Amino acid sequence: MKRLLVTGGAGFIGANFCHYWATTHASDRLVVLDALTYAGHLASIATLEAGGALRFVHGDIGDGALVTTLLEEERIDTIVNFAAESHVDRSIEDPASFLKTNVLGCQALLEAARVAWQKPDAPSSRRFHHVSTDEVYGSLSPAEAGFTERTPYAPNSPYAASKAAADHLVRAYSSTYGLPSTISNCSNNYGPYQFPEKLLPLCILNMLEGRVLPIYGDGLQIRDWLHVSDHCRAIDLILQDSAPGETWNVGGSTQDPNIAVVGMLCDLVDAAFTAQPGLAMRFPGSAAARGKASRSLMQHVRDRPGHDRRYAVDSGKIRQRLKFVAATDLAAGLAQTVRWYLDNESWWRSVASGEYRQWYARQYAAARK
Ligand SMILES: NC(=O)c1ccc[n+]([C@@H]2O[C@H](COP(=O)([O-])OP(=O)(O)OC[C@H]3O[C@@H](n4cnc5c(N)ncnc54)[C@H](O)[C@@H]3O)[C@@H](O)[C@H]2O)c1
Repeated sequence: MKRLLVTGGAGFIGANFCHYWATTHASDRLVVLDALTYAGHLASIATLEAGGALRFVHGDIGDGALVTTLLEEERIDTIVNFAAESHVDRSIEDPASFLKTNVLGCQALLEAARVAWQKPDAPSSRRFHHVSTDEVYGSLSPAEAGFTERTPYAPNSPYAASKAAADHLVRAYSSTYGLPSTISNCSNNYGPYQFPEKLLPLCILNMLEGRVLPIYGDGLQIRDWLHVSDHCRAIDLILQDSAPGETWNVGGSTQDPNIAVVGMLCDLVDAAFTAQPGLAMRFPGSAAARGKASRSLMQHVRDRPGHDRRYAVDSGKIRQRLKFVAATDLAAGLAQTVRWYLDNESWWRSVASGEYRQWYARQYAAARK
């Protein structure tokens, strides 16, 4: 039986991980530590907390005293660090907050684990798993092979630079202090509970409310999309089977331009409105309810500065050594995701708060050509 501290467990991937873990490892202890920033939502894990499947603690990973208390009183043997500032556009507006959480916060968490796990009565089997991103590797040209675990880091945004710095600290704590750690560098995730500032939920909700679908530049930026349930399963395999000190790239082996993915979402939303006439009553402002194709809402806007052109992840190592293969293909995963947002209107209405709406208006007023 493991005793996990899941940081950032009220965010998109962390919440999905808690649902996954509570289902697949029901006898394990789950403790969530989350600062509940604009991106963290108790609603995403409320059923787990109410059912006694996890304990929620409101706090900051940078608060060493709080983390130490939790590690000791809960006898935590596994830390999975999802907590981060995660949106590239926000990192361009306010890089300092990214360094504070993603670098200094991660170091405080590492230090608390190092100290707590050195004590004679510490749990005998211990693991610090750090969740990172493929964005640390920078951008690929069209012909280049995908990122491997040996690709040199070349981050291009303040977000990616802060994640790269955290990865280096995790490595240093492993090499210097022998902290048993692993790192996963994952491609773009999508699925339930994703905050609507990110491309896919942003577009789904904009379609339902008849707003423009902003396409950065020519929309031909290529991303490797992975359904969040596959990411959670990959982390599970790493926790079970990886030796400490290893890093793992995790991708979905898709390579689709953003504009094509948005087009697929448009077609899925239009098909849902055709199959379910009641949707037009629920979302009267949508293009579909007004007899138009959702694709008519697409609008090119000024590209993000330093926008990486192409990411592609070589998942060969995790496929060969841990037998991981992404189970959800993009078409099926996008269809499930559209269905989830249609079925969970109360969730997205509750999380898309006033702060988010102001940020959104500012962001796209500035970006529009
Ligand atoms: N979303 C993706 O496509 C993707 C891909 C690869 C890697 N990642 C990484 O996975 C992790 C989770 O990403 P996400 O998309 O779920 O992010 P998210 O922004 O949805 O959630 C982040 C969570 O961390 C919490 N948090 C922020 N600062 C904190 C702090 N100082 N202390 C405690 N909690 C804090 C927030 O409240 C929120 O619940 C991040 O580390 C991110 O870099 C994300």
